[in-house]
Amino acid sequence: MKSIVILISGRGSNMEAILDAGLPLQVRAVISNRPEARGLETARNRGIPAIALDHKTHSSREAFDAALAETINRHTPDYIVLAGFMRILTADFIGQYVNRIINIHPSLLPAFTGLHTHRRAIESGVKIHGTTVHFVTPALDHGPIIIQAAVPVVPDDTEDSLTRRVLQQEHRIYPQALAWLAADRVELRNGVVRIRDLDVLPSMLAPALVVPDEA
Ligand code: GRF
Repeated sequence: MKSIVILISGRGSNMEAILDAGLPLQVRAVISNRPEARGLETARNRGIPAIALDHKTHSSREAFDAALAETINRHTPDYIVLAGFMRILTADFIGQYVNRIINIHPSLLPAFTGLHTHRRAIESGVKIHGTTVHFVTPALDHGPIIIQAAVPVVPDDTEDSLTRRVLQQEHRIYPQALAWLAADRVELRNGVVRIRDLDVLPSMLAPALVVPDEA
């Protein structure tokens, strides 16, 4: 069975969705760069080693990433799963785990890289927004895309309402992406991901253009 370490910074709802999905994956540890992250408690309650590694106690980004790598390596995971991990990782760190770091980003990449994606989506007037699970490369929010889900942006949307709608989709697609990885079905060629033996498109691949918040 493949194994993962999950990195978080806060609430940890994506982490929880992954844990609840009953995937054939061993979750060896959850690590947070913020000691107060609510997700640490959730992981601990489920008997998963939950480790706080405070970035503020490290003198530089490089020093933190070295400590992070050391902590991760003690658990020898196949994949490192970023689930709301709000730190930019150094190219050096990423280079140690080529095609083994996965992230979820709250936009339809390559649109809206970076922060405040929901607010920016509303301000820019896009009618479709969403979320992306992708491999992490040194170029921020630019790695090969594994799965995406789309949601409508409606006239009365606020940052909060759009966040909620996107988050529902995050909780569906992240477990799906990890299920494919667990089953060794993710092929990566020339920066493009292909899922092996995918003859029927799962519904989460299609835009979830549903009436907001009805689900
Ligand atoms: C999610 O929207 C994720 O896409 C982004 O940060 C948020 C984390 O939420 N990277 P949670 O901690 O998983 O609840």
